Amino acid sequence: MNLKQQAAVYAVDMVEDGMVLGLGTGSTFAYALEELGARVAAGRLRAVVGVPTSEATARRARELGIPLTTLAEHPELDMVIDGADEVDPQLDLIKGLGGALLREKIVAFASRRFVTIVDESKLVQRLGTRGPLPVEVVPFAWEVHMRWLTTLGCRAELRHNPDGTPYVTDNHNYIVHCTFPQGITDAYALDQTLHARPGVVEHGLFLGVASEVVVAGAEGVRVLKRTLSPT
Ligand code: A5P
Repeated sequence: MNLKQQAAVYAVDMVEDGMVLGLGTGSTFAYALEELGARVAAGRLRAVVGVPTSEATARRARELGIPLTTLAEHPELDMVIDGADEVDPQLDLIKGLGGALLREKIVAFASRRFVTIVDESKLVQRLGTRGPLPVEVVPFAWEVHMRWLTTLGCRAELRHNPDGTPYVTDNHNYIVHCTFPQGITDAYALDQTLHARPGVVEHGLFLGVASEVVVAGAEGVRVLKRTLSPT
């Protein structure tokens, strides 16, 4: 098993009969979905239902025979399993290079538990140092949103499909990739700034969301757990 698959299978071992699951998106989560499907088909997992975070995940889940539901029917989830692009020492994350950040965040906020699955290459000291921060914007006046994003100190690039057309999310929006040359110095402040801007729908900073991170590395699999700071 490669590292992504090891992290994915470890997380699927946490799933119990009857759970309502959030189903992530991306190449690491794809391994978890296959494993879930295999266990459901073999009768080793019973009565689990999933809320998918993307059309791609929904399609594959249907093919695998994993029953799907919606947040309207199940507003409280037992557990989400999903990948991440970066994980910092506080277990804050960047997600969304797979383009599904908005639904991923909505589903994450509905869950008691958010299990992130990564290989160790995703661990960083500071968010934004491994890759860009994806920001979902409405197509209306997207050039203006891009220009405003550069005033935050990043290089902003519209995400494209391989054929050169703009990438359109499942929610019919665009994605701008924001590259911060020194990484993101204050992710919590940036979160507020982005949320206050009309035209920005959501961004890939998942702060205080992950309850545990399953990390697969050369030495094996380990689980990092969020330690809650005393109030
Ligand atoms: C999807 O939008 C993302 O949030 C993914 O979970 C994230 O990009 C990790 O993807 P990989 O597992 O493919 O690296």
